[in-house]
Formats: sequence, C-alpha cells, structure tokens
Amino acid sequence: MVTDNPRNKESFANGGGEELPSVLVVDDNLANLKLVKGQLSDCYRVSMAKSGAQALQMVSKTTPDLILLDIDMPEMDGFETMERLKKHDRLGRIPVIYLTANNDTETEVKALESGAKDFVAKPFQKDILRHRISLHIRFNQYQLQLEDTVRELEDSMVASFSGLIECRDENTGGHVVRTREYVRILGELLLRKGLCAEELDPTELSLIVRAAPLHDIGKVGVSDAILLKPGKLNDDEYEQMKSHTIIGAKIIDKMHKRAPTQRYLSYAKKIAESHHERWDGTGYPKGLKGKDIPLCSRIMAVADVYDALVEHRIYRPALSHEVAMTIMTDGKGTIFDPVLLDVFEENNRLFRIPERNGGNEAAEGPDEPEKTART
Ligand SMILES: [Fe+2]
Repeated sequence: MVTDNPRNKESFANGGGEELPSVLVVDDNLANLKLVKGQLSDCYRVSMAKSGAQALQMVSKTTPDLILLDIDMPEMDGFETMERLKKHDRLGRIPVIYLTANNDTETEVKALESGAKDFVAKPFQKDILRHRISLHIRFNQYQLQLEDTVRELEDSMVASFSGLIECRDENTGGHVVRTREYVRILGELLLRKGLCAEELDPTELSLIVRAAPLHDIGKVGVSDAILLKPGKLNDDEYEQMKSHTIIGAKIIDKMHKRAPTQRYLSYAKKIAESHHERWDGTGYPKGLKGKDIPLCSRIMAVADVYDALVEHRIYRPALSHEVAMTIMTDGKGTIFDPVLLDVFEENNRLFRIPERNGGNEAAEGPDEPEKTART
C-alpha cells in the first residue's frame, strides 16, 4: 500500500461494540502517564510514551486515533514532536491535543498554530478531556471519510475522461487501466529497492498513480483521421500527433488552476507533457534528456510503450511479451531510463497479464517505434 489511512476504526461513541479507539499519551512524567491512562482506559486503548522520540518510534509502527501530547519534555519538546509528525503525510493526519501545565495564553496560541486540534490544561477535568478526545476522533474520521469520497469522485472523473480518449484512440481498451497498474508496480519496486529515493516517496507515488490515466488526455485535440490511421503517419500527421503532449499539459494546467489543492494534477501535467521524452534527449516535445525528464514521466514511458507493444493495434497485431521485452531492452539508455528498465526487466513477469499472453509470437516489432507505437 502507498497510503495508510488512520481511520477505519469505530469510535467508542457509536456504541457499536467494536474495537475501542486508541490514544497515545506522551509525557516525560510517569505519574502523569499513569493518571491519564487510568482516566481513559475504560473507553480507549491507551498506550504511553515517555518522550517525543519514543512517541515517533511508536507511531511509525502503529497509528493511534489521537495523541495527547505534553509540551515541556527534555530533549524533544511537544512542539518539536508535533513538527516532526506534520512532516509526514500519514502521521500528520493524526489529531493531536496538547495536555500541558503550560496554560498561559501565549503557549496556547502557539500550540494551536502548530497544528494541534485542541489544548487542555493540567490539572484537567476528566469528563472534559474525554469529551474533547471523543469529539476530535469523530471529527477526524468524518474528515477522512469526506476526503475518501472526494478522491473517489475525482478518480471516477479521471477514469471517465480517460475512457473518452480511449474510445477515439486505436487502443483496444483497458490501456489506461493497465498502464496505471504498471506505473504502480514499477513505482513500488523502486521504493522497495530504495532506488530514485531523492525523487520518489510513497505519497508521491500514490499521486503519480492517480495522475497516470491522464497521460494521453491531449489526444482530444488530435483528429480521428490521424488517431485511427492504419500504417505510418506522414511527417505532418506525426507533428500533429506529437502535439497531444502540449495540448494535454495545457488542459491539465487549467484543471489545476481551478483546483490548486489537487497535487496529483501537477504530476498529471508533467506526465502528459513529457511521457514521450527519451532518455537520450531525442524525444518530444522538448528534447529533455536523462534526469531532466521528471521521474513520473520516465516511469510512464516504460508502462506506456510496453502496453502499446503487447496490445493489438490497427496497424499491427499484438506482440508477444518476449518480443516486447526484446524491444524494451533495446531502448535501455536511449528511450528509457536504464535504472528503471533494469528493474522492469528483472521483474518483467509482474507486467505480463495472463489473458493477453496470446500475443502473436511471429509478429515483429515496429521498425520505427516513434511513428508506429503511437502511445
Ligand atoms: Fe502519448
């Protein structure tokens, strides 16, 4: 999985008899930890950390539904602990309530500005603390559910857009679904192997996977006569076909301006614009070279070309996985990022879909991939 949603647990407030929500209490004072645990343990699964460092270690393994965080602690205080949580996409979504003896107004304002959901002063009143914990856990669950719903709607819109393009294209269907899956598999392999770490983390990969189906959206601006032409394109037609990268980037740029918080659209724009760039600088539209090509586009190029090769096209039958792999290998260091292609080759069986293994073993690869494998 590339994301970890900290909800999916029933709140005690729903009376559903499900597993109790979990609360992590962070305080350097053992007596305080025990006191809070005693006040909450009938309604929550309470775990305890004696320092910010220990708390960060614990949440890296198990995500609590809420954190009660002391401020004054040696070495790493509550503010620094909070800052570190906020840097992490998953951990930054855990609601935090400061529970502290520092109850002056200045500290309270600073605490809330740091991203905490609430601030409770010690000594606390048991029922008030319990009420606030319940409130923030439920509020966070609603917020995450809403985000899931919005994400599903967006993904469904992206799938619809992509489906429209596929209806006009020479693809036999399912290209956007398969290439999105190839992008996910290749990205997860890179993460697992610690490759491209400076350019990729799990959060970015989840955005790239969401963006991948929009890679050819610019084909809405290319005529059917060109999209569906059997055989090679002439130079003018080929120039028009190439323009789908620029058109796609413009379309997505407009979408992103209307919805600037949708980070996946920034990846979608990069992918649409540069998925036909080549590692050696001979691609289009800009002739970018090597790592000047965004990683998301280098990944997309591998997925896109492989799927184009093993799919039946109007101008040639589907190639077998083996023939396609030979062509892919030939493109290592010229068309494709050699690091990505090494991973692709080593794990090529993961990209072979059983129902499509009936590729034409006798079919030969395209002699001019750029004009014939119209990805
Ligand atoms: Fe394309």
